[in-house]
Order: sequence, then C-alpha cells, then structure tokens
Amino acid sequence: MLRFSSTLLVLTALIAPHTAYSADKALGEARYEETCINCHGPAGKGAASYPKISGKEISYTTAKLEAYRKGIEQGPNSFLMISMAQPLTDEEIANLAAYLKDAKYVVE
Ligand code: HEC
Repeated sequence: MLRFSSTLLVLTALIAPHTAYSADKALGEARYEETCINCHGPAGKGAASYPKISGKEISYTTAKLEAYRKGIEQGPNSFLMISMAQPLTDEEIANLAAYLKDAKYVVE
C-alpha cells in the first residue's frame, strides 16, 4: 500500500506538478524555521529591511520564490534571496507559500 501510494504520488507529480501536490503547512513551517526565519523573523512578520512575507496569496509567494529560484531580480536586495531560493524544490515552495499565507506572529 505504501509503495502503491508513493508511486501514485510520483506519477501525479510528473503529470501536473503545480496542481496535484497538496501543500503541507506543517512541513512549510519546519522549512521556514530552518533558514527563512533568520531574516524574515517569526511567522514571516518581517524585520528591518527584510520584508514581511506572511498573509500574501499563495500565487504571489509562489511566483516570487520561483522567480528568485531562476535568478530573476525582484528588488534591490535580491541577491540575498536568490541564493536562499535556489535549493528549494517545487514541493518546498508550495509548502512555504501555504504556511506563510496564514502564518501569524503572536506575542506571548
Ligand atoms: C539572508 C536573509 C534572507 C533569508 C535567509 C531569506 N530571505 Fe527572503 N528576502 C530577503 C530579502 C532581503 C528580500 C527582498 C529581496 C529583494 O530586494 O528582491 C526577500 C524577499 C522575499 C520574498 C518576496 C517578498 C515580496 O513581497 O517581494 C519572499 C516570498 C521571501 N523572501 C521568502 C523567503 C523564504 C521562503 C525564505 C526561506 C527559504 C527566505 N525568504 C529566506 C532576505 C532573506
């Protein structure tokens, strides 16, 4: 069963990479905390010259990350983001965009 479902996942991913994968916010959060949090702050709230990246549409965040991954400059400090986006897989981008859409910074 496990083998069957993972084969199916690979097949659907090959056929429709942008629509078949259902994003996992928990994985997105875990990935966010590996590196992104160092510049963008907790829950993507932004910090100093690092933009707030939470609360944006999934399509917006996805497009930005895909552009950086391709090495396309977006703003004056894109060089920082291009090196961050280059190792991201399509799945990681989907997970990050899903997590960031609803991520909220809560002061405890
Ligand atoms: C070294 C600091 C740094 C790290 C780490 C970093 N970023 Fe960024 N990020 C930036 C800077 C600076 C910009 C603005 C770049 C520009 O001028 O184009 C940016 C821009 C963005 C934008 C576009 C914001 C907008 O609305 O234009 C997104 C989305 C983003 N980052 C997501 C991420 C994600 C996801 C990660 C983790 C994989 C990450 N960033 C890691 C510094 C960083």
